[in-house]
Amino acid sequence: MKGELVPSAELIGYAEERNTAIASLNFNNYEFLNAICRAAAELEVPVILATSEGAIRYMGIDVISAMVPQMVKRYGIKASLHLDHGRSFETVMLAIRYGYTSVMIDASDKPYEENVRITSEVVRVCKPLGITVEAELGVLAGVEDEVSAEKGIYTDPQQAKDFVEKTGVDMLAVAVGTSHGAYKFKGEPHIDIDRVRRIRELTKKPLVLHGASGVYREFVEELGLEGAKGLSDDLLIKAIKSGIRKVNTDTDLRMAFMVGLRRSLSKNPKEIDPRKHLTPAMEEVYKMASKRLRVITLGELS
Ligand code: G3H
Ligand code: 13P
Ligand code: ZN
Repeated sequence: MKGELVPSAELIGYAEERNTAIASLNFNNYEFLNAICRAAAELEVPVILATSEGAIRYMGIDVISAMVPQMVKRYGIKASLHLDHGRSFETVMLAIRYGYTSVMIDASDKPYEENVRITSEVVRVCKPLGITVEAELGVLAGVEDEVSAEKGIYTDPQQAKDFVEKTGVDMLAVAVGTSHGAYKFKGEPHIDIDRVRRIRELTKKPLVLHGASGVYREFVEELGLEGAKGLSDDLLIKAIKSGIRKVNTDTDLRMAFMVGLRRSLSKNPKEIDPRKHLTPAMEEVYKMASKRLRVITLGELS
């Protein structure tokens, strides 16, 4: 159904049929949400609209749940509203009460048995409601919301098999070399593609890649983020062909927004109507969202 929120599982079905992935794009305000929905509408592709716990604190879940269905209706797109990195059973329940159609329970920093227990609890509640559940196994390097890991711990394929069997989770986020934020790699970008294939083979589940931003060079230079490095588009497409079905992007959109905003502020420093600055910032987010949808869902190299 276009123009209505659906469970992420329905969108993932679209990706499975085409051996591609759905973009999960994070937003924190009206400008991002509008730009993402417009990009998805113009490219006629489904999209996952994701809010972190931080985004919920910033916007308020009551406002999110009023704004998102309206925006999805405006653009007539196929989308889900997803809780990104839900850290507790309580946060997941809150999201469900406010109409989220998809949730991530991230207990990946807890001992394995605890991760199994809490994920199973979430699945038990969500399954009868038709809400899609994502969980995570392994640890991404860098800063993951409020969890930080010095070094990434890659997902073990056998443990992944055991995890999906025990929990009945719909999709699984894996640690295969990426990390959150703008500084992903010291040397060349890399992903353990064999590991992706092996996990996919053993679990037969849609896999999720977090920390997948491209951190494009033009913007790195313009923003002066020395040493920042992301995932290359060709490596990302390889990972998708190996079984990744949901690809998360936040950093690229943030960088695009800041480029648009900075350009506008320096071009017109005396302009005091914020909308005059936010419009070009929103336009950059729109362009970046289009770029990410093209790579992730349409498999086009930029
Ligand atoms: O995975 C993390 C996302 O980029 C969300 O980040 O907690 O700053 O909203 P945030
Ligand atoms: P990036 O920081 O690479 O955009 O990853 C975002 C993410 O994984 C959100 O869950
Ligand atoms: Zn993430």
